Amino acid sequence: MCGIFGISSTKPISNQLIKGLSKLEYRGYDSAGISGHGINSKLITIKATGPIKNLKNKLSKLKGITTAVSHTRWATHGQPTLKNTHPHLSEYIGIVHNGIIENYIDLRSYLKRKGYVFKSDTDSEVICHLMNYYFNKTADMQSSIVSTANSLEGSYAIAAINTHTPHTLYTSCKGSPIILGKGLDANYISSDITPIIDHTKHFISMDDGEFAEINSASIKIFNKNKKVIKKPTKVSKIDKNQASLMGHRHFMHKEIYEQKTIIKDMTSRYVGTNKILPNIFGHNTDKLLENIEHIHFVGCGTSYHASLVAKDWIEQFSKITCTAEVASEYKYKKINVLPKTLFVSISQSGETADTISSLKKALKLRYTNTLAICNVAESTLTRLSSMNFLMNAGPEISVASTKAFTSQLFTLLLLTVILSRKYGKTEKKMVQDIRQIDKKIDELYKMEDEIKKISSKFKNKEHTLFLGKGTSYPIALEAALKLKEISYIHASAYHSGELKHGPLALVDKKMPVVCFLPDNHLARLVLSNLAEVEARQGQTFIFTNKKIARNKKQVEVIKMPDCPDLIVPILYIIPAQLLSYHVALKKNTDVDKPRNLAKSVTVE
Ligand code: G6P
Repeated sequence: MCGIFGISSTKPISNQLIKGLSKLEYRGYDSAGISGHGINSKLITIKATGPIKNLKNKLSKLKGITTAVSHTRWATHGQPTLKNTHPHLSEYIGIVHNGIIENYIDLRSYLKRKGYVFKSDTDSEVICHLMNYYFNKTADMQSSIVSTANSLEGSYAIAAINTHTPHTLYTSCKGSPIILGKGLDANYISSDITPIIDHTKHFISMDDGEFAEINSASIKIFNKNKKVIKKPTKVSKIDKNQASLMGHRHFMHKEIYEQKTIIKDMTSRYVGTNKILPNIFGHNTDKLLENIEHIHFVGCGTSYHASLVAKDWIEQFSKITCTAEVASEYKYKKINVLPKTLFVSISQSGETADTISSLKKALKLRYTNTLAICNVAESTLTRLSSMNFLMNAGPEISVASTKAFTSQLFTLLLLTVILSRKYGKTEKKMVQDIRQIDKKIDELYKMEDEIKKISSKFKNKEHTLFLGKGTSYPIALEAALKLKEISYIHASAYHSGELKHGPLALVDKKMPVVCFLPDNHLARLVLSNLAEVEARQGQTFIFTNKKIARNKKQVEVIKMPDCPDLIVPILYIIPAQLLSYHVALKKNTDVDKPRNLAKSVTVE
């Protein structure tokens, strides 16, 4: 969703701003803009709808500027038009904003009564007028920021620029992250680390209610009483090459191919020869987990699908009962928390608004503990949760999540083994199975040519069905989500046993039905469900390691490597990721940035 990038430097920065905005593209956006100090500190502003290259065409206007704020906007209030594009301007002030101002209608009426004229339909525009209003009263930008923050309800990350304070930027946040980068002759403001790591690895995370004043030489952070506060500078472990394509045509393809190495690294970090290494979820956590009797999982999108697999795994191997909820539902439900219940939030970004507010709710309930499984260090989720597990899968740029999903599953598998210990499951056997995953992934990559051929059979379809049973059902959900997201083909996922309760009515000669059929105790049942499809001449695409006769024209068998049942979900999703990738390529869609979607959904 929206992204913020600001620089105060001793040198001209227009090209750096464009590069930074491009780094924020992965979050999803539909317009972008920049506002910087020009001659006599007057603000020069450029905006464009559509891709960043449209903004680049206007860049000559910013020649020589050294201090500016910039923004990528993902429309929430008001269409993706030029007038709604940030920065928004008042008399002296320019601002960019991420988040949602919940009381903007009241503030708008108030400011209109004070004579302010609104040019956009956004909630964000109230911020610049409010800041300007308070600045006019005090001639002090710090007081203006504090008063503005006190008037705003909702979530925000704001970067502001003022014609009265040359070469200076301001930022404040509540419920939406801001990171400050410390460079040599420049300092940076950003909504995430990706545009900053091109310039510096040193950064400071802002907390809710704080604000900062930056110029090229210094970063000053204040609490809401305008008292300077000292905050630790951290060093990012992200390698800037991780955020580049490295020869792949798309980030999604690169990220699919990173899965083997990530799993291999995680295996060497956390898995011993016969045992999971001690306390991988944090100090003394093995003991804590031993006493858990119930788990509530919460996540959104792909992360939610990972929690569904975890629920199945844990209930299969232990006596622990689990629930898995999408975060946007959990937040509004009455939750009964029994003693010895663990709350687990799962999120790639750690910034998904619904997941964060679910964790905030959970912190007020009587959970034994909260665990966040996340890919981004220093994210809001990891800062709030008492136990954290960082997957370290590297930045995931493609909106369609791939490597985050398999890293989440791997983490949840480790959790399953730890939780199953006291129920007499043989950790040794489970560990042996886990240790096979990375080598098996190599075999899956060899299937890409075959999958490419199959993808042409989906290109002209409008509807598809995905089926699975047991832990393969969440894989069907995730595979359907991948196809929807990037190829815009409608895909529904069902438990294979549910087919005859409705979706079978859709099956005809034209309907592709994809099925995940590992050769296990459920295979016989899934096969009879598939027979129901074949009897109606539906086209089936079966991912399986079971021997199935290939004698029917409408049956396509995609041979999967043999593997223990425990690791099936991690392996079976990978060819499905490749399938949607190749269908999307054939449909010529914007693979990494599908229409209407955002990588980091920071609004509820
Ligand atoms: C967005 C992304 C999905 C992701 C979901 C949850 O919808 O496009 O890929 O699964 O958010 O994101 P999270 O960062 O919390 O895992």
